[in-house]
Amino acid sequence: MTRKLFVKTYGCQMNVYDSARMADVLAPLGYAPSDTPEGADMVVINTCHIREKAAEKVYSELGRLRLEKEARAARGGRMTIAVAGCVAQAEGEEVLARAPWVDIVVGPQAYHRLPELVARAARAGGGVLDTDFPVESKFDALPGESAPPGPAAFLTVQEGCDKFCAFCVVPYTRGAEFSRPAAAIEAEARRLVLRGAVELVLLGQNVTAWHGNDGTATGLGGLLRRLATIPGLARLRYTTSHPRDMDDDLIAAHGNLPQLMPYLHLPVQSGSDRILAAMNRGHRAADYLAVIGRLRRARPDIALASDFIVGFPGESDADFRATLALVREIGYAQAYSFKYSARPGTPAASLVQQVPEDEKEARLAALQDAIARGQAAFNGGSVGRTVEVLFEHDGRHAGQLVGRTPHNQSVYVDAPASLVGRIAYVRLVGANARSLAGALAGTPAMHLQGVAG
Ligand code: 5AD
Ligand code: SF4
Repeated sequence: MTRKLFVKTYGCQMNVYDSARMADVLAPLGYAPSDTPEGADMVVINTCHIREKAAEKVYSELGRLRLEKEARAARGGRMTIAVAGCVAQAEGEEVLARAPWVDIVVGPQAYHRLPELVARAARAGGGVLDTDFPVESKFDALPGESAPPGPAAFLTVQEGCDKFCAFCVVPYTRGAEFSRPAAAIEAEARRLVLRGAVELVLLGQNVTAWHGNDGTATGLGGLLRRLATIPGLARLRYTTSHPRDMDDDLIAAHGNLPQLMPYLHLPVQSGSDRILAAMNRGHRAADYLAVIGRLRRARPDIALASDFIVGFPGESDADFRATLALVREIGYAQAYSFKYSARPGTPAASLVQQVPEDEKEARLAALQDAIARGQAAFNGGSVGRTVEVLFEHDGRHAGQLVGRTPHNQSVYVDAPASLVGRIAYVRLVGANARSLAGALAGTPAMHLQGVAG
């Protein structure tokens, strides 16, 4: 019997990866993915706790699902609702108290136990909570991937964080740093490539802290080199990195590993040393700039991305101007910026000098303006070039595909659907701050083609 499963994902790419794995775990029970919650037998909300706004979305979503569940029950059916992810981990009991119609609350390290939790919830009529950090690794317990990957597939290689930035919930919701063994990562990578992935994005909250424990590869640079030997794997990326972990070997890989794309998301959070210290980042602005300098020497055309927080407690106008100056100095290809959000249980939440909301708003607007100018300049500078584009999916218009350049820019191109999953040469003809327009330029070279199709 097929049952309908609807999974809704909030937050980061690791949640996207986890959502796919939860579908894999539930597949043997007869659950097949569906695009809507209507008529679903099981709904999983995979949540994010990083900022207050993200966490609050869960409760409004659960309010809507309550109606759906009641309508289903009135028709004599049953809908099982599971809350997964970082809100589940951080506020498990509260979720069950605020939304007693939730059947299962499962943390990010326990979702391999979903089949057992579903059975327990059916017996108990709901209210099942599992937010353990089990001794067995979920990775060892997960079944193979049930659905084929897209052309650019995520692969989690590391989880958790030991850095304890003062604003961040990750060390509490995802736990201590954990690196998957290189052999298990390689096996998963080979499966993904055999099933059509052309690009792999290695994921970890602190992916640059990955370390091999089987003697074959010691750091992320070694892992990337090992994966680059997989036939048909044309592109590698990794995210998210920390400036303190950018070692010589990894930087060298950016210079001499052709599969490693010239793009790096390296969050700095602030350009002010005073604020960086208060954030417990463990580096100054100059250290960050030095890492960027080393990266640019290894790979002169590397495109850079970052995350920023404005309005961290105690941030003055001068501190904020230092952030703006750093943004202008680096010229980011992409950047994400957020208003500081006090998170329960983190050290920064109890700092007294909180920045007023209107000030945060004004700084965010100014920062986003500076970032948009940088992005527009970066994309504008690409126009006229011919680059390799990996086509990922259909575009908005008929006959159009969306792909990605080596610099991680989205490109819209009129191209046949048969090119999805392939790399082709594209001439870049137009640009704005968010994306590029391109035109096919010749047939793809054999060595650039993925094994898909
Ligand atoms: N408030 C605002 N932004 C935050 N981030 C992490 N914690 C917070 C917080 N409490 C941002 C950081 C991080 C990104 C994933 O989210 O910039 O790099
Ligand atoms: Fe959070 Fe800092 Fe760890 Fe990144 S490095 S996950 S911001 S604590």
